Amino acid sequence: MSDQEITQQQQWDRTYQNAKDFFGERPSELAVSALPTLRENGSREVLELGCGQGRDTWYLARNGFKMTSLDYSESGVCQMRDVARKKGLEGVVAVQVHDARNPLPFPDASFDAVYSHMFFTMEFSEEEVAKMLDECRRVLRPGGINIYSVRNDHDPHYGKFEQRGKDMWKNPMGFVVHFFTEGTIRRLSNGYDVLQVKEFEDPSPPFTKKLYEVVLRKS
Ligand SMILES: C[S@@+](CC[C@H](N)C(=O)[O-])C[C@H]1O[C@@H](n2cnc3c(N)ncnc32)[C@H](O)[C@@H]1O
Repeated sequence: MSDQEITQQQQWDRTYQNAKDFFGERPSELAVSALPTLRENGSREVLELGCGQGRDTWYLARNGFKMTSLDYSESGVCQMRDVARKKGLEGVVAVQVHDARNPLPFPDASFDAVYSHMFFTMEFSEEEVAKMLDECRRVLRPGGINIYSVRNDHDPHYGKFEQRGKDMWKNPMGFVVHFFTEGTIRRLSNGYDVLQVKEFEDPSPPFTKKLYEVVLRKS
């Protein structure tokens, strides 16, 4: 990183300050697909990582889940607190500023499910992803599920622009993205049963991305 370059955290903060619903108001494809899976699993309390401006948090809360949502962007979290107040969702949505590379601020076995859309696909090394997946497993109750999405090696931005590490490239918007193969996902799933790795497309602005939807169960 050059001296003038801003951090990814600053990049997200500025992005959310400048665009009210950067990814649109509608829930993501992952959230819509996760809803029946969460219900079948009997989940009630869900931890969301990298919640951004909350499009999936609101959708899952409206559908009956008690949400705890984290992001390291203060602007995203502040906007979400305002919206939660306006929507009258303060009782079912708790939002916190937290850098998920640090231990999660919850006791063991606190949640039925962990959910994240396009979070593990940020500027994290494989070692950091493995550590965060371990932390997710710690806070899951026995039989709990971890549903996440990552951009994959069929995505139009895979291998393009400025390389920033193994399988990571920085796009012209200034975001560093880590792309995953199915093999990498399976290798990083220690301590979980892999229930599903399925490709899907996310057409949210500004271009269609290719991702894997991953469903893991705490072994
Ligand atoms: C691609 S965005 C997805 C946002 C949201 N899940 C959605 O789909 O609307 C990734 C999010 O992860 C957050 N993030 C990146 N690194 C993080 C970290 N170390 N700890 C917590 N949040 C982080 C960013 O601030 C951003 O909101």
